[in-house]
Amino acid sequence: MIIDPSSLLPIVALLLATIQPAAANTEKAIFIAPETVNIPLKGPSLDDLNLHVITPSAWSIRANLTRVFHAVTKDALIGSATWLLLDQLTPGQRYEFRVCWAAIQPTDFALNVYELDTVWDTPELIQSLAEYANLRRPSSKGGQESSPEGQEERKSSVLLLHIQAYADYFTDNASLMKDPPPVLADLILDPYLYNVVPRSLLPTIGYLVLVGMVAWFVARSIASKLQAIAVTAETSTKKRN
Ligand SMILES: *[C@@H]1O[C@H](CO)[C@@H](O)[C@H](O)[C@H]1NC(C)=O
Ligand SMILES: *[C@@H]1O[C@H](CO)[C@@H](O)[C@H](O)[C@H]1NC(C)=O
Repeated sequence: MIIDPSSLLPIVALLLATIQPAAANTEKAIFIAPETVNIPLKGPSLDDLNLHVITPSAWSIRANLTRVFHAVTKDALIGSATWLLLDQLTPGQRYEFRVCWAAIQPTDFALNVYELDTVWDTPELIQSLAEYANLRRPSSKGGQESSPEGQEERKSSVLLLHIQAYADYFTDNASLMKDPPPVLADLILDPYLYNVVPRSLLPTIGYLVLVGMVAWFVARSIASKLQAIAVTAETSTKKRN
């Protein structure tokens, strides 16, 4: 007796269905890292912008992102924008960037990645970036002095990520409708393995393969035992006749 491996498919499908994360939302952007460029380029120095930096080795941060309501800002880049620097990427590598937030903070996210040149050459983007950098500046005042002449030129594959967060709820509470509180979010950079599978999915896939293999061997051993019983039963009935 042979067990058709496809008979395991329903089990695998069932397992997949149970693995969904609970009460959390995810928005993602998938992109290919660009060629390396010389930094600093023309335009403002990246380090002076004092953005959060995410790299393949420091690939996750948790941050409070400011929100606005859709209706408040139709032209919209102002107030709601968060900018991040994605640095030290591998050119040509496919990445997924995810924002994960709790379902109790209903939010719409819009994610866009831009190459540096695109941002420097687009007035709305450079304005939004400058405004965001300005908002972040006070918090860093006491901290590290930036040394203008210590700016070494380096080569790196970088992208600027623009996140817009829109509060997506209605409440009678006037103050909550006027100023939505920031949303706490996990920001995650996830490289694709061989540009096919997000790296973070590997444990899940490994687990499913393992479960599948165990199920297969268990099923096979049960089947051969059943077969043995059937054969003995058959011969004993034959003998009796
Ligand atoms: C985000 O804001 C909440 C509430 O103000 C605060 O408790 C939390 O520590 C903040 N988290 C981060 C990562 O800034
Ligand atoms: C509205 O929400 C804020 C923040 O959660 C809270 O401090 C305030 O008491 C609420 N006001 C009313 C009228 O419920």
